[in-house]
Amino acid sequence: MDNSKIKRYTVTAALPYTNGPVHIGHLAGVYLPADTYVRYLRSNKRDVKFICGSDENGVPITLKAKKEGVTPQVIVDKYHKIIGDSFKEFGVSFDIYHRTSSLTHHQTASNFFETLYKKGVFTEEVTEQYYDEKAQTFLADRYITGTCPKCGNENAYGDQCENCGTTLNATDLINPKSTLSGEKPVRRETKNWFLPLDKYEERLRTYIEGHKEWRPNVYGQCQSWLNAGLQPRAMTRDLDWGVKVPVKGADGKVLYVWFDAPIGYISATKELFGYASLDVWNPKLEEYYINPKEVEKGSWENYWKDEGTKLVHFIGKDNIVFHCIIFPAMLMAHGDYILADNVPANEFLNLEGQKISTSKNWAVWLNEYLKEFKDKQDVLRYVLTATAPETKDNDFTWKDFQARNNNELVAILGNFINRVTVLTQKYFGGKVPSLMTITDIDQQVIDELAAFPGKISASIENYRFREALSEVMNVARLGNKYLADTEPWKVIKTDEDRVRTILYISLQIAANIGILVEPFLPFTADKLMKMLNHGGHLWDDAGSINLLHSGHQLNEPVLLFDKIEDDAVQAQVDKLNQSKADNAVQTATEPAKENIQFEQFSAIDIRVATIIAAEKVEKTKKLLKLTLDTGIDQRTVVSGIAEFYSPEAIVGQQVSLIVNLAPREIKGIVSQGMILMSEDADGKLAFVSPVQKHTNGSVIK
Ligand code: MF3
Ligand code: ZN
Repeated sequence: MDNSKIKRYTVTAALPYTNGPVHIGHLAGVYLPADTYVRYLRSNKRDVKFICGSDENGVPITLKAKKEGVTPQVIVDKYHKIIGDSFKEFGVSFDIYHRTSSLTHHQTASNFFETLYKKGVFTEEVTEQYYDEKAQTFLADRYITGTCPKCGNENAYGDQCENCGTTLNATDLINPKSTLSGEKPVRRETKNWFLPLDKYEERLRTYIEGHKEWRPNVYGQCQSWLNAGLQPRAMTRDLDWGVKVPVKGADGKVLYVWFDAPIGYISATKELFGYASLDVWNPKLEEYYINPKEVEKGSWENYWKDEGTKLVHFIGKDNIVFHCIIFPAMLMAHGDYILADNVPANEFLNLEGQKISTSKNWAVWLNEYLKEFKDKQDVLRYVLTATAPETKDNDFTWKDFQARNNNELVAILGNFINRVTVLTQKYFGGKVPSLMTITDIDQQVIDELAAFPGKISASIENYRFREALSEVMNVARLGNKYLADTEPWKVIKTDEDRVRTILYISLQIAANIGILVEPFLPFTADKLMKMLNHGGHLWDDAGSINLLHSGHQLNEPVLLFDKIEDDAVQAQVDKLNQSKADNAVQTATEPAKENIQFEQFSAIDIRVATIIAAEKVEKTKKLLKLTLDTGIDQRTVVSGIAEFYSPEAIVGQQVSLIVNLAPREIKGIVSQGMILMSEDADGKLAFVSPVQKHTNGSVIK
């Protein structure tokens, strides 16, 4: 968007699901870049609203509630508070942190749907969905488990098999089971409302192709969705938690969570402008605001409907299609709204070489970090921005965290500020000295300093935050080099006036850093500006050497950063290893199944058999087709062991085989029986075989 046309900014950060706390991956991927961008805009006196809130609808929340045996409301209240507090403590400076369980949101999302409905945007489609007759409810995909048709994993979910990664429809599962009642679900017809994305395909293409400046990962993902052809997508679900569908005949249905969640940005903005009238608003919720303040004057609509507004969505890469295809299609269908100018999505952050996983507790949780590294918010902000996964996945390691703190924050930034302030204290009683004669070396530093704000601005405005932060550090490097070259601690013995000039310029560099670092490290900027006894942080002032006047009294120097010792990071590594171990134990000691009668056991006919031939099943990764001599017959069994055994290596291997399991067709091959395997916590499989050779057909009992 042409800078001269921009009147105001609406900056959104993805609404986190309230089914758990937030971790460093969220912070690095979404909230830090967004906060940096917004702080930069504010420092430039631009009109900006920074919008976020909790995403409190959807199946992940009902599942979590079910697991803990409480209502979804209890879950969302709990995590809304935890997440909101973490953001606040990390200095993520939302203008509002709202929530999608609020009345304002329910009304806004409901009205939005109604508008589209009245315009005839939706198509109605009757489809067959699984229904749990015992629990008397339709089942969301995640509520159904069964055998994966691709790999045979018996615990695949209705939307995905976590073993082989295949995306599934619940109706693809073999032997589907409801996780609510354990019963086999039945198919039942149900009507839902679909957004015909295909009808918006051309407009979406024009929109996307008008933004070639977007990050290649974002642009590329959009292109591949468009090229694959868009399909109508259901915007309602048979579920009882969420925003009710405001249409006759839609009892027991709610809006699809990805329909209502992005509207959450709009409802939060309305709320910020005092949309909710106080008598219907639940005052209890007010305590959750990040920046409680008076209701904004003006209209929320300017921030969503005026062409002079630049809308930017900060998200993680798994959210791209929702923000670049589905939400824009919804906004187009509505007609009144502007579309995002940019969607700077990040890739993923890994942790110590592994994917961050909530369920495996492989994460650094923000609420825990805050307890264990008190007052070190900026250290994490620094490390996460310096290693942000902007163009590719990146890795966070505790060793790197320590190294960046000790070698960069302490040794470069902290060191420079400390030297300047301590020397000024020592030689001039903490008063800014006067600028005397300027030499060539001084002039060079002054010129270099003047060039930084423009460079940093350009990086930030192009969403290159890593690059911008490294330039800010270069300002500190410039300061350190200047001190090293001019050696005021030596010159003081012979030429006090020269030292006045050197420290005057160095102090201006320090004050510049205070302005330039603020979007990234707001706590540090505050501390520094207090030390310099300087009030404001306006970007326009940066580049100048007149920020602190001669004679201005500084406050006592304090250290900005301190060293992080080995034991502190070792403790974190140990903690991660502990969660790895806990997980292994948990999996290994899976709770025992319910008791069965001896008759049930003896009904299972298990025999020793020998593999006499083996080959890979084409187009699968995990399956082998085996021919077995069972002593009774020769038969074919398909087994999911290809990742652990090569076909050549297992010919001649004796195994235990259930010979009376009803035959099943897997990948077009009839499999007669099942080989017993033991599986360890890492999912590794091993044969269960007699320890000495036995005749084929020997009974295992
Ligand atoms: N809750 C979603 C997630 O964590 C993000 C929602 S973003 C919004 O992946 F646009 F829908 F709000
Ligand atoms: Zn699978």
